[in-house]
Amino acid sequence: MPPSSSLAHPNIAFIKYWGNRDHALRLPANGSISMNLAGLETRTTVQFDSGIHQDELTLNSQPAPEAARLRVAAMLDRVRALSGVTAPGRVTSANNFPMGTGIASSASSMAALALAASTAAGLNLTERELSILARTGSGSAARSIPGGFVEWQAGATHEDSYAFSLAPAEHWALADCIAVVSAAHKATGSSEGHPLADTSLLQPVRVADAPRRLALCREAILARDFAAFAEIVEQDNLLMHAVMMTGRPPLLYWQPATLAVLHAAAGWRAEGIEACCTIDAGPNVHVICTAQFQGEVAARLRTIAGVQQVLEAEAGGGARLVGN
Ligand code: PMV
Repeated sequence: MPPSSSLAHPNIAFIKYWGNRDHALRLPANGSISMNLAGLETRTTVQFDSGIHQDELTLNSQPAPEAARLRVAAMLDRVRALSGVTAPGRVTSANNFPMGTGIASSASSMAALALAASTAAGLNLTERELSILARTGSGSAARSIPGGFVEWQAGATHEDSYAFSLAPAEHWALADCIAVVSAAHKATGSSEGHPLADTSLLQPVRVADAPRRLALCREAILARDFAAFAEIVEQDNLLMHAVMMTGRPPLLYWQPATLAVLHAAAGWRAEGIEACCTIDAGPNVHVICTAQFQGEVAARLRTIAGVQQVLEAEAGGGARLVGN
C-alpha cells in the first residue's frame, strides 16, 4: 500500500485538560480550549507493509524507544480495526522543535499519526472522526486536528468527545513566547499525571466550574478581548496547578525560574503590555501575547535569569496531508 505523510502542530491550552472520566478512552474530566502553534511541527509518514513482521517506528532519524513504539502500535491497531488492514506499519516521525526543551510533542505527534495512518489505510475520515482517533493516542492531540483556536468538548461518550475550530488562525494575532527554564525530561508525564487529579480535594471544584471558564475564554477569543482572556487563562492555569500540587503524590512542576517569569509578566501587564502566562505539565512558561508585543516580550524573557531559551509561535492551522 502507498505511504501517506502528514504534518501537525502542537497546541497550547488556554483552558486546561487535567484528569479523565475514562482513562482508557481518554474521555476528559472537563472541556478545554487551545491554540495551535505555527512553525512548531511534527511530520509523520506511515506505510502499511506486509513484508515487515511488526510495527516499526523511527523517531527523529533514530530507532524509537520501545515505549514510544508501543504507543504508536496501539494507534495503528485502532486504524487496522477501523479499516480492515492487517499489515504491520512502518512509521517515521520527526519534530522540528528541539527535543529536550520540555515542549510536549504528544499532541502534534498523535494528531499527525492519526491522519497519516488512517489515510495510508485507505480511510477518508472526517475532521471529527480524526479528532476522536487522535484523542485515543493523547488527549490533547484531539485539539491539534482542527485549525486555529480550538475547543475540545468533553462529551459523555467516545463518539462525542472531539475538538472543533472556534476560529481560524487568522482570527486573532496572538503569539506564544515559550520561556524554556529546564530541558530536563518531565518527572511525571501527563499520562501518569491525569489519574492523580482525582486524589486532589480541589479537582471536583475545578471540574464543576469548567463550563464558566470555557464560556469566558470562548467569548474573549471571539471578541478579541485580551484583558478578559488574560484573566481567565491565568485563573485556569493556577487552578490546574493547584490540583497538581495538592494531589497524592503532589506534582510540583515549577522551578524558581518558572516563578520569576510569572512575577515578571505580571509586572509587564501592569505597564500595559498585553501578555499572560500558562504552564503545562512541566516548568516552562508559555507567555501568550498579542503580536504587537511579541518582540518586546521575547526580548524581556531572554533577560530573566534561568530562562535558557525562548521559542516563539503564532496561531497555526490544523493537521494536514503533505507530500511524501
Ligand atoms: O494530552 P496529554 O495527556 O499530554 O495532557 C495534556 C495536559 C496539559 O498539557 C497539562 C493540559 C492541556 O490541556 O494541554
